[in-house]
Amino acid sequence: MRRAICPGSFDPVTNGHIDIVARASFLFDEVIVAVGINKSKNRLFTAEERMEMLREACREFSNVRIDGFSGLLTAYCEENDVQAIVKGLRAVSDFDYELQMAQMNSSLADIETVFVPTSPEYSFLASSLVKEVATFGGDVSGLVPGFVRERLVTRLDERRRAGDA
Ligand code: PNS
Repeated sequence: MRRAICPGSFDPVTNGHIDIVARASFLFDEVIVAVGINKSKNRLFTAEERMEMLREACREFSNVRIDGFSGLLTAYCEENDVQAIVKGLRAVSDFDYELQMAQMNSSLADIETVFVPTSPEYSFLASSLVKEVATFGGDVSGLVPGFVRERLVTRLDERRRAGDA
């Protein structure tokens, strides 16, 4: 059984993430999509909300399950018998940091990192940019699933109201 992990913040999940998960699910017997839980980072959605959206977004992939992790990714991989970390590469600019992380992770544990090139239609896509565009009223349909767009608009609206109060 070859088990891989797609780790990330997923704040929120985008169509680019789903594309990478879909391709990982084709390559491996089982894929865990794991939400990094880092309480010190300021996120728009809680870890539980991010996992909920991932469960909905990945429900069509029968060999994919969603989980959360805190602490070292390599520790989670060892505890869950994961052999490979799958990461999407959008551009050369992603490569330096991702290579550094891959080498650090392989120095910490017996784990391979597999880079999957992002499909060209998603090469500009990042959760941070989606949030920025939505904050200023831009149309993010086509970049995230419809139900994520709705939750994003609602959450940003709640934040705006809380800021005005
Ligand atoms: O979506 P992101 O923000 O690029 O995801 C980053 C994530 C969660 C994959 C990365 O920060 C991570 O692996 N964090 C776990 C802590 C860890 O293992 N750090 C050492 C990495 S070399």
